[in-house]
Amino acid sequence: DADANPPVRRVSDWDADRLAALAAEHDTPLYVQDLDRVRENCERLLSAFPDADVRYAVKAHTGRAVLEAVREAGLDAECASAGEVDRALAAGFGGDRLHYTAVNPPARDLDYVVDVAEREPGLTVTAGAVDTLDRLAERGYDGRLCLRVNPGVGAGHHAKVTTGSAPKFGVPYDRAAGVAREAAERFDVVGVHAHAGSGIDPDQLDSHRELVARMGDLALELTDPDPADADPLDLEYVDVGGGFGVPYREDDDPLDLPAVADATRDAVGDLRGLALAIEPGRYVVADAGVLLTRANTVKPTPEGTVVGVDAGMTDLLRPAMYDAYHPIRNLGGADGEPAPADRETESVAVAGPICETGDSFCTDRALARPARGDLLAIGVAGAYGYEMANQYNSRPRPAEVALADGEATVVRRRERLADLTTAEREADGTAETEV
Ligand code: LLP
Repeated sequence: DADANPPVRRVSDWDADRLAALAAEHDTPLYVQDLDRVRENCERLLSAFPDADVRYAVKAHTGRAVLEAVREAGLDAECASAGEVDRALAAGFGGDRLHYTAVNPPARDLDYVVDVAEREPGLTVTAGAVDTLDRLAERGYDGRLCLRVNPGVGAGHHAKVTTGSAPKFGVPYDRAAGVAREAAERFDVVGVHAHAGSGIDPDQLDSHRELVARMGDLALELTDPDPADADPLDLEYVDVGGGFGVPYREDDDPLDLPAVADATRDAVGDLRGLALAIEPGRYVVADAGVLLTRANTVKPTPEGTVVGVDAGMTDLLRPAMYDAYHPIRNLGGADGEPAPADRETESVAVAGPICETGDSFCTDRALARPARGDLLAIGVAGAYGYEMANQYNSRPRPAEVALADGEATVVRRRERLADLTTAEREADGTAETEV
């Protein structure tokens, strides 16, 4: 039922009174993540891809409550680092639901993951360079391995996140079959993998289809029961990555997920029993999160009104890093001001407290005329939001509240000033408590 589980939740769909009450109770900036919406997003993915392995790309949001919700919904976890594997284990993912994607992995991460794999032999390592295979073998690893391939075709919302055509990622396509066959002498090669990039829009579906078709061809070549030159590999799956985009602008259409699923099936062709795997991150969590921030300064300038807020690029990096658009809604609340719906609209810039010009959420944005004390909701902030937050300008990271079944729970407390210096104080022995 599309009404019960719509393909997109807009910032205007959130309950303004609820958000205002949360900001009043927990202060701002505040991340709010709705676990019910996370579950809905998982359900839409599972029903569009009913016979695929769906692996949540944990990097989009590693909060424990989110990981648990995703695990309960039935998705696997795709992890990019030892830290992500550690979090996924803590959230209850067993080895058979863990996929570690090693990109130029630090030795410490390989040591950790090889150790985990000894205890959890179902874990799969995805590797995209012969050196990585050698480094795994040097550590005695001979377990499940998936070969990451550079498909030579990419897509994404920004060049910085278009991976499929970037030489950093994966073994070049025309060498992949040879590397996979060699790898099979040392590991249990179970799959091939490629990832086009992040934030694939409806108009980039041709690139997605091309990637999928190439991966389907590769899998068939490797599993060909009657090859001229080599024995077939016993692959389990073809992983075509994540990247499904979500609408950030209010008038953007959502991806037609069932159509994407059909196109994917069509492009991959007959897999002769191999499973199809996908790795969505953003799609699972993006529209389940908002960042609440309070306007503290409203300044008229010759170039227009600048609204200063207490969240900055440290809390939500995407606008500064990728010129990303995030919808913003004025929820009101300033003393003596009418409700936002009764105010005129004004085109404003919204900027944070950090000493960089790039610390700006938008320019020329039409909002219900903001006043000092208003609460603003920055929408579609659930993916790569808290996850990319940092402490630049010595700013403690925000708190995060999770909503589930109508209950609100603080799942990450607001950082304090003392958190900024913990590592320093532990290094010089002046920390009162070891964390
Ligand atoms: N699989 C692999 C191997 C990946 O590297 C990624 C994302 C995904 C899956 C999930 O992609 P998604 O479905 O979330 O688009 N910080 C950037 C996004 C970086 C994504 C990196 N890799 C942003 O805020 O747009």
